[in-house]
Amino acid sequence: SLKAVLRGCGAFLPEKVLTNEDLSKKVDTSDEWIRERTGIRERHIASDGELTSDLAANAARVALKDADLAPEDIDLIIVATTTPDLTFPSTAAIVQAKLGAGAGAAFDIQAVCTGFVYALSTAEKFLISGQHKRALVIGAETFSRILDWEDRATCVLFGDGAGAFILEAQEATDAGERGMMASYLRCDGNLVDLLYVDGGVSSSQTVGHVRMQGNKVFREAVTRISQAMVSVCEEANVPVTDIDWFVPHQANERIIQGVVKKLDLRPDQVVSTISGQGNTSAASIPLAYCAGVADGRIKTGDLVLFEAMGGGLTWGAALMRV
Ligand code: ACO
Repeated sequence: SLKAVLRGCGAFLPEKVLTNEDLSKKVDTSDEWIRERTGIRERHIASDGELTSDLAANAARVALKDADLAPEDIDLIIVATTTPDLTFPSTAAIVQAKLGAGAGAAFDIQAVCTGFVYALSTAEKFLISGQHKRALVIGAETFSRILDWEDRATCVLFGDGAGAFILEAQEATDAGERGMMASYLRCDGNLVDLLYVDGGVSSSQTVGHVRMQGNKVFREAVTRISQAMVSVCEEANVPVTDIDWFVPHQANERIIQGVVKKLDLRPDQVVSTISGQGNTSAASIPLAYCAGVADGRIKTGDLVLFEAMGGGLTWGAALMRV
């Protein structure tokens, strides 16, 4: 039987940085308010002409180098994004061309901030079926383009960036303990109104802006996220407290700490990038994972738990021995 094993990862952030101080000159807010409520100090913002596919391709190049692979070794590209370059074709198709990757399959996944967890779970299914050999799984966003820069309740929360994983189908006997162990995906479409963009192809001629009932999203978060994390651990028959690293979607430091407390995890097991990146939606999990690898915390063989919740509402978790 086959397993989906992580072979490499890569991160990319736009150069331009927007601090809380900068934001306080645009809207009625303060560094103190933003830090206390969210843990965010600054975020990266794509410059004009810097597209989601550019961020994605840059992260993918780093991941290919990390995995010691060439673009033609990839036969599946999945991009999780809510901020595609174009209405169609998919950002994955554009990334394939930018990388000069082979003629495998390429498509996008739209599950907002849960996109990367959805993409990981999807890639695993393609790989363990034997239909594809190596998947480039990317979370990439230019969320700055759909923010209402006059709405202080949302514009302070988000940032731009991209992160990429390369997963490879390996015989279970070769993979040993390594590989994806379980994933869990959910959506409750009755909760669309809590977090959405008020525009789109079918309903209006505009792209629209992020609209969010932040405190209602916050109230839903800890319970749903914790339940998803417990479910994947149960499926893999591993106590939650046995994980080495908790790599959450970076929406809000208070949500992350709420989950840590509820599940009896230790604060030093959390990989957090929120202070320097804000919420980068589908990009935040691979960006945080790469940060944990780059500073030497996460090592080969470690047990890593990922989770996310976002618009939909969607939520989910994935457990992987890396
Ligand atoms: N600066 C100063 N004051 C602000 C700001 C700001 N940037 N934003 C809102 N306020 C004010 C509000 O107007 C309100 O004022 P009022 O009491 O006079 O009416 C007050 O602060 C409190 O507002 P709340 O919304 O109740 O603040 P809360 O403590 O809930 O924090 C926050 C807001 C940070 C948005 C929090 O609710 C949160 O993090 N929610 C989860 C959001 C989230 O995770 N979203 C991403 C999901 S992932 C995805 O799919 C994109």
